[in-house]
Amino acid sequence: MSARTLTVRVVRIEAMTPDVRAFELVHPWGGMLPGYAAGAHLDVHTPGGFMRPYSLARAAAPGPVASYVIGVKREPASRGASAALHERVQEGDLLAVGTPRGSFGLQPGARHLLLAGGIGLTPLLAMAEQLQQEGRDFTLAVFARSRAHLAFADALAALGPRVRLHFDDAAVPEKIDLGTLLAGAPGDGRLYLCGPAGFMQAVRRAAAHWPEDRVHAEYFAPPEGAGEARAGEAFTLRLARRGVTLPVAAEQSAVEALASVGIDIPTSCEQGLCGTCVVGWDAGGAAPEHRDFCLTGAERRHKVALCCSRAPAGGTLVVDL
Ligand code: FES
Repeated sequence: MSARTLTVRVVRIEAMTPDVRAFELVHPWGGMLPGYAAGAHLDVHTPGGFMRPYSLARAAAPGPVASYVIGVKREPASRGASAALHERVQEGDLLAVGTPRGSFGLQPGARHLLLAGGIGLTPLLAMAEQLQQEGRDFTLAVFARSRAHLAFADALAALGPRVRLHFDDAAVPEKIDLGTLLAGAPGDGRLYLCGPAGFMQAVRRAAAHWPEDRVHAEYFAPPEGAGEARAGEAFTLRLARRGVTLPVAAEQSAVEALASVGIDIPTSCEQGLCGTCVVGWDAGGAAPEHRDFCLTGAERRHKVALCCSRAPAGGTLVVDL
């Protein structure tokens, strides 16, 4: 569910690669849209009744913005959201979107290394543009199948030499060795990654020596094998600010249990990927069994994703609600 839904007009559609289109969305009557931080996403409601989160691809100044830009890759087997956006949405159409949100974003640090695989470029492009605007040190490494598959090429060119490109296509010289790129002690550096599952695994392997708290990942889908680990046991949820306790059944998520008593927690992916449902938790109860893929180790010490994470069987999770 979305905290708030906006109606926007599709003012521009641009074919950026054979399978990626950029959609620029504006207020239908020329007004301004709610602002956002680089790394945020929009929940987009598409023809056919689908809803998918898409990262905002361009940096925004603080405050309201004139437009949103998303990049949508048409998935080869898609009969869902990406196909609907590519095939059924035209310039001038109206779409419903949620207000921008998400927990993936820039962190404090002296150096920022952003690694993008394919369409995982979109949030990292916005973050790189923000770093550029703020005069902060960054490298954006972009991995694509070929130059023809490089989305947002003009925006990347505008970022100058801080952008490095890697093309799988053997016919071009650009290559980046992940081991070399990620070698050395990160110091107070930060690593951000977003891309398809194989890319995320490869980067995680190459960055195994990086402290978990310095690695910030946005996944498209739960890593392989994560499904079985998400089975639940009954536990209790205590809402610290309300002074209320409620049971969470084995087959329920905390979000569902809260909804059953009329407390709506905003959600988007419902898979532990986006951070929309994250709230604070209190050490007065059991430590959560974290099942998300978006919080760092440090964040997990005081935050929990209620769409997927739970207390241990029979335990009580105290949350800041
Ligand atoms: S709704 Fe996306 S992490 Fe919970």
